[in-house]
Amino acid sequence: MQEIVRKADGCRVCGRDDWLDVVSFGETPLAGDFLDPDAPIGAERRVPLEVVVCRGCRLMSLRHVVDPEAMFGHYRYVSSESETIMSHMRRLVADADLAEGDLVVEFGSNTGVHLDLFRRAGMRVAGVDPARNLAEIANARGVETVPEPFTGRVGARLTERHGRARLVLGRQCFAHIDGVHEVLDGVTAVLDPGGVLTIEVPYLVELLANDEFDTIFHEHLSYFSLGTLRTLFGMHGLDLVDVRTAPVHGGSIVVSAAPRGAGRPERPAVARMLAREDALGLSGDGPYLEFARHTEAARAEIGDLIRSLAAEGRTVAGYGAPAKGATLLNACGLTREQVLFCTDTTQLKQGRLMPGSRVPIVSPEEGLARRPDYFLLLAWNYADEIIAREGAYLEAGGRFIVPVPRPRFVTAPSAVPAP
Ligand code: TMP
Ligand code: ZN
Repeated sequence: MQEIVRKADGCRVCGRDDWLDVVSFGETPLAGDFLDPDAPIGAERRVPLEVVVCRGCRLMSLRHVVDPEAMFGHYRYVSSESETIMSHMRRLVADADLAEGDLVVEFGSNTGVHLDLFRRAGMRVAGVDPARNLAEIANARGVETVPEPFTGRVGARLTERHGRARLVLGRQCFAHIDGVHEVLDGVTAVLDPGGVLTIEVPYLVELLANDEFDTIFHEHLSYFSLGTLRTLFGMHGLDLVDVRTAPVHGGSIVVSAAPRGAGRPERPAVARMLAREDALGLSGDGPYLEFARHTEAARAEIGDLIRSLAAEGRTVAGYGAPAKGATLLNACGLTREQVLFCTDTTQLKQGRLMPGSRVPIVSPEEGLARRPDYFLLLAWNYADEIIAREGAYLEAGGRFIVPVPRPRFVTAPSAVPAP
């Protein structure tokens, strides 16, 4: 294992090596290691999963860093084309201040599904993603994608080839990247002086407020507040210009920054959010230690609930096989003894096992046909969309358990209340 993991030498934002210990999940399997059904016991790569906060810039982070090639070289997470995400994306495209022919560069562009929306709106697009299997899919659909990590060198190459970008976009990938300074070198190498960098990350404040402990896994190296992003961007001559919240992935922020001196005014939302972070005490230790206490309580509560349902002879399955579902099952000590299977729409996951818990993954059609008494909604970030779609399952007496922030049951309005 030593070859793919190392302890961070210092904070990836400010370089300081002085940490507050927040919570530890022990040595846990990599959440993206969906196993072959015949993989021998112990085939999962296990790595310490420890959450810390930098006493310098207050970045919440994992203490250990897994080699990105080991996690992303062949990646089974395919960008969501769910209604929740597509409508969010359409809004991002509509809100972008762009003209026809402008260049949009996206890093972490996955299969190119979102750049395709910009292309259809008349922009030129270029993607960058280290997952070679996904970059290939993007290239095949006509979204030119560089199959590499985003760095200053890649940014310079893109500029040479396409000119400067009016928008550089990084959606739900910035928190996965250890070399954030290299990425920002890439940004400054390709961003037009009058252009905008837009980064979308899960918001630390939502994670803490909703006890989203299952979103902590090895791929998620950083848990950003706006204050820490301001520090980081500032080191690269980029000033915050806007921020808004977005109801995706457990509550995210879409943060825009522009080259200093470009004269873009800072929208009032920026100062408001920074003031709120101050008021919440993010610069002290309190909120993080409280989160750690809530996490321990939630792990026990969810684990006990599912174990007691299984002990009563109820059938329980997982709905969705997201990385956070793998984390949740392992953190709560659940295995295929209590959770019979997980459904997932991603073909790359079907037929495989969840790492650690070894729960088999099946297609949604197969899972629904097996009609478990309860679906544990591991993909709870799509709860509204999924519950609305699965009315027939609910009407037939099926129940959802939404695990986060605290487990709650969802039944059809006409059904008997759950125990
Ligand atoms: P994500 O939260 O990281 O986007 O992962 C969600 C996972 O859940 C992904 O593997 C796709 C799966 N999923 C379903 O199986 N059914 C659904 O309806 C949705 C929205 C997602
Ligand atoms: Zn720091």
